[in-house]
Amino acid sequence: MMKSTLFKPASQELSRKERFLNAISFAPIDRPPVWLMRQAGRYLPEYQEVKRQYSFQEMCRLPSVAADVSLQPFDILGVDAIIVFNDILIPLESMGFSVEYAEGGPIVAPAIRRESDWKSIRPADFSETPPVFDSIREIRKRAGSGVPILGFAGSPFTLATYIVEGGVSRNLRYIKEIAYAQPQWLERMLELITPAVIEYLKIQIQAGADAVQIFDTWAGTLQVKEYRRFALPYQRRIVEAIQSQGTPVILYVKGSSPYLREMKETGAAVLSVDWITPLREVAEIAGEGVALQGNLDPAVLYAAPETVREQVQALLRDFGRKQGYIFNLGHGVLPETPVESVKEAIKAVKDYE
Ligand code: CP3
Repeated sequence: MMKSTLFKPASQELSRKERFLNAISFAPIDRPPVWLMRQAGRYLPEYQEVKRQYSFQEMCRLPSVAADVSLQPFDILGVDAIIVFNDILIPLESMGFSVEYAEGGPIVAPAIRRESDWKSIRPADFSETPPVFDSIREIRKRAGSGVPILGFAGSPFTLATYIVEGGVSRNLRYIKEIAYAQPQWLERMLELITPAVIEYLKIQIQAGADAVQIFDTWAGTLQVKEYRRFALPYQRRIVEAIQSQGTPVILYVKGSSPYLREMKETGAAVLSVDWITPLREVAEIAGEGVALQGNLDPAVLYAAPETVREQVQALLRDFGRKQGYIFNLGHGVLPETPVESVKEAIKAVKDYE
């Protein structure tokens, strides 16, 4: 059961949290809420400034710094939701991996490529509360009760990808081999990771997260048949564990278009979708009762503000429905995106009648 929303007639000013939760439960809203994946990041000079003083790991580990950076998009851009600054790979440290952020991307060690290596990996140990708990508490203290805070985690398949590949990988050389040659071993890995993800999300909810997003970036490389085997069952288990306690789950898959029916089957309250399929069609495929998020091509934000405005408002107009929708991109804000264009996208949503 989902928490009942704080229902108010649309004529009264909604708080950001009310607007966000109302959007998820199809209650009346004045306009769609707006936030952006990777809203805190390198394209913001204020983020770069913090990055000069702290490593990425320190930014994730020091709650006051994580809160500073999480709040930047709220203060500078005026987004409607704050996602806690952290990374999907950080909880792998609680399973005995080392995680480093190098120039070329994150490095997870030791990379596990044989089942005999896997045996040394332990179930996650969160007996020492991870810093994300204090980061969320700090954000709540500073932002107040009227702003929704989002927690997040990587999905089991995407986390398994990093564990096996040891970092970012163009062809997913090893995880794909395992998926085809040793599928049962992959299932055992996913079985071990799933409870860790559930617990990590529950820690964030306990700290005050109002909704959580599961990032299954690399599930978007699977055949639908493989998605049903290696992604869907674990996503569904996470959704059930979290939503049964009243917190809505947003499910993100990079390149979601082929999997909308499967994503719907997880029971997630919100599906965060790509930019390939028009929203109206996405809504038809996903069917009744599931809210949507996303759909703007992140590359639109490379264009000048007038174009951004046109594109955002065309998306909203073509979709034609205000309820059950959270405005976002189809993936994170890209490096080198002009801040002015990001601001214009947010303003265009807010101005939409
Ligand atoms: O959205 C937000 O603003 C919250 C913070 C957030 C980060 N990573 C911070 C980050 C979130 C939600 C993530 C999720 C994440 N991390 C995903 C899933 C979403 C996606 O992008 O597909 C994945 C696959 C990762 C793993 C990861 N972390 C990679 C591949 C990289 C390096 C490449 C890159 O995009 O920079 C990171 C580093 C990272 N995570 C940065 C940030 C702001 C960049 C660090 C820097 O400032 O150099």
